Amino acid sequence: MNISENIIWHETTIQKRNRQQLNGHKSCVLWFTGLSGSGKSTLANAVDHLLFQEQYRSYCLDGDNIRHGLNRDLGFSTQDRKENIRRIGEVAKLFIDCGMIVLTAFISPFREDRELVRRMFAEDEFIEIYLQCPIHTCEKRDPKGLYQKARKGEILEFTGITSPYEQPANPEMMIDTGVLSIEESAHHILTYLNEKKIL
Ligand code: ADX
Repeated sequence: MNISENIIWHETTIQKRNRQQLNGHKSCVLWFTGLSGSGKSTLANAVDHLLFQEQYRSYCLDGDNIRHGLNRDLGFSTQDRKENIRRIGEVAKLFIDCGMIVLTAFISPFREDRELVRRMFAEDEFIEIYLQCPIHTCEKRDPKGLYQKARKGEILEFTGITSPYEQPANPEMMIDTGVLSIEESAHHILTYLNEKKIL
């Protein structure tokens, strides 16, 4: 859908760099992607916690939670997942504009959808973190019992079972949560943010 020619962008008086200055750090999106049960929400929350303790302004957007509210009208068809990710990209952009560090925990299984989001941001603002965890490990964890339901055919189009997951070709970070603990992984990410002078 095209934007109506009668809707004109309004420049804001306070800009992103002003808000970043006030916060005392740059803003960016930490885009976690990976199978259900790979640890996205857990790790995003652990990083958020560390950042909060250090008095950085951060916020977590989580797939299951967002699907209770903003995206409650969406299911798991390819089209709905695309719209899910597009909306989250737009919301993340607002947080970036507020000068915040936003962490997103969505399966985001399709490369094209993630690339579309990446293109919404400046190069150093979008950090894709692939939680590489073998499906049998995710399935063994099965924290919500969903893999079991999917195997029984009670959930259709379940990622990794009856719906594909396309691995990122060139993520900024790749973490094997089958090997590293949550604490180790979180510290890895903090180190990366320090190295990139975001913190
Ligand atoms: S995404 O594919 O559109 O990015 P999202 O991260 O928002 O997915 O939601 C995934 C969560 O919804 C999973 O962690 C799981 O708890 C739940 N879920 C319910 N049905 C499905 C399904 N068919 N495929 C994957 N996850 C599902």
